[in-house]
Amino acid sequence: MALNGRTRPSLGWKGLLSSSGTMGFGAVRRIATTTACAKRHTSCLLPRWSSSGNAAPTTASASTLTGLFAALSLAPRPCSLRASAVGAPARGLCAQSADPSSLRVPGVKRELETLMGSALEAAFPDQRQEPIVVQTTNPKFDCDYQCNNAMPLFARVKGEDGAPSNPRAVAEAIVASIPANDLVEEAAVAGPGFINLRLRDSFLEGRAATLFQPDLSVESWAPQAPCRRAVVDFSSPNVAKEMHVGHLRSTIIGDTLCRCLEFSGVDVKRLNHVGDWGTQFGMLIQHMEEEGVAFDAAVEDLQVLYKASKVRFDEDPEFKQRAQRAVVRLQGGDEESRERWGKICDASRREFTKIYDALGVTIEERGESFYQPYLEGLVGELLESGVAEMSDGAACVFVEGQDAPLIVRKSDGGYGYATTDLAALRQRLSEEGADWIVYLTDSGQAQHFRGVFAAARKCGWVPEEGTGGYPRVDHVGFGLVLGEDGKRLRTRSGDVVRLSDLLGEAVSRCKAQLVERGNDFGGDEEALDRVARKIGYSAIKYADLKQNKQSNYEFSFDRMLDLKGNTAVYLQYAHARVCSILAKAEASGAGGGGEGGEIRVTCGAERALLAAICQFPEAVEDCVADLAPNRLCEYLYGLTSKFTDFYGECQVVGSEEQASRVRMCEATLEVMRKCFFLLGMEPLDRI
Ligand code: ARG
Repeated sequence: MALNGRTRPSLGWKGLLSSSGTMGFGAVRRIATTTACAKRHTSCLLPRWSSSGNAAPTTASASTLTGLFAALSLAPRPCSLRASAVGAPARGLCAQSADPSSLRVPGVKRELETLMGSALEAAFPDQRQEPIVVQTTNPKFDCDYQCNNAMPLFARVKGEDGAPSNPRAVAEAIVASIPANDLVEEAAVAGPGFINLRLRDSFLEGRAATLFQPDLSVESWAPQAPCRRAVVDFSSPNVAKEMHVGHLRSTIIGDTLCRCLEFSGVDVKRLNHVGDWGTQFGMLIQHMEEEGVAFDAAVEDLQVLYKASKVRFDEDPEFKQRAQRAVVRLQGGDEESRERWGKICDASRREFTKIYDALGVTIEERGESFYQPYLEGLVGELLESGVAEMSDGAACVFVEGQDAPLIVRKSDGGYGYATTDLAALRQRLSEEGADWIVYLTDSGQAQHFRGVFAAARKCGWVPEEGTGGYPRVDHVGFGLVLGEDGKRLRTRSGDVVRLSDLLGEAVSRCKAQLVERGNDFGGDEEALDRVARKIGYSAIKYADLKQNKQSNYEFSFDRMLDLKGNTAVYLQYAHARVCSILAKAEASGAGGGGEGGEIRVTCGAERALLAAICQFPEAVEDCVADLAPNRLCEYLYGLTSKFTDFYGECQVVGSEEQASRVRMCEATLEVMRKCFFLLGMEPLDRI
């Protein structure tokens, strides 16, 4: 059924006529301005968007993908949680007020939800239904999205007086109620009751053109996350120990999630919860002192010293006693011990910083030691309020559904990893004002975080699980990095692989590859190095980010540096190709250099590319909603493949459609570059 922009009679079920212009769930107020886009389509007025002040707050379920970003400005967030008192309930949600001054272009899916929401309301005014709109991935259906409300709706109304006789009839009633719009060209009922939605070419053309409007850019395509301030706890290596590949995964995935959250309007505090406290420091300091080792030793030496001190600690009871006294001195604030501890931390920090600098990752160090002053008071409060109780001399928080309690003070009076995490959680809620806290570690720590989160719920700091309320806490657990033998990645001698070696090898392999391809940058060593570094680091990052985070993955230089397939190298080459086409267009004098023309779809490959471009905001939304960078990688790979098809089929420079196609290349480049940025990869204009 074609919808030609005519006003259709809205056939409300049970004969009720309803206002087809009503905005459904997820509505975003449109403020149409007369910025004309494609002149060919007189009906196509480019709307500017404001997401401010339209409706009452809803409590969208943040745990679901659609719920997370539902209704842009309508999402819940905490007003004023100050978890100062243990046991104080963390309730009180209010509507997020998005910055009204910033122009935003809503995602296509969001717009379709609004449209289908109106249709649902018109067709079934008694049934409050959230529109279910999903992207169609199967090209067989020749549509862009699907609305899947008919089946569940039929199940609800079945048997009622005058209800449609099957889901297809429900779907047809919905289709008949779609208001006149400039978005959907065709809505067709398929199968048992799916509604296939095909977008108008003019809509895609107009949407892509917004990228070139002076006051809009790809930034205005950013989705709005339903929270203001997030803490992302990632990387978090341990002092005096080498940073290993597990920390690398945490660093890479964490950085991308931060970038996506930041792009989605969230104020993100990136925290490095470094393991810089605990009994091992007493042991290490004592050993170093007895061995006469300088306290500004290099981190490799510290690791060896650490291992040696551990052997002595386990085997020599007298050393153990001396080490324990050293811990007491350190924890008691003894100045000399503090200074030595500080030097050990400095050595590790220097090493960590090198890795962060190489990878372009910004992070603020706030190690376990930071929370020490909070521990005693916290445990006291937990006991006083009855959240914790004494059991075998230890202070424990028992939580329903968890076999073991969370021990917040050991029977020897010491505090452990869990106490620190509980104190950190509270500090982040109350002092940092976080409404979302995300932790990244390997999945081996899932149980630990379950315990900490359950204790926080028992304290009333965070709402019950599954309510979708804020503040929200998430542990993103990821799988192991395996060697090509399928076992945990190790060096040949069985040691932990050093990250600096890993990064170094990626770069030297890239260099060799470039030279092999006859690409030695005219002997310019520096240029070769720079390019090899960019390709090498992006290859390592992308190989990690594209994985489903839960699964273990096999680390293979050969695979990640492959020019074909879903690799950063393929993406980098494609990016450089877009740049070179644009340079050629510019040199040819017509179009290029930001001077493309009006976008016009003339063939399938162009349309597919434009549709992919317009789906960019949804990819970021998915990535944030699922805390899964692989969603963004899949998107970028898809976009790049569409570009490769387009380039294969359509002549750009010298063709009749040059101006429009140059614009398409420019739009591709803009979106690609943003994806590269979000994935922490530096794009290369020329390889
Ligand atoms: N240092 C820990 C480790 O290497 C990771 C810390 C993660 N963050 C946290 N808040 N517990 O395993």
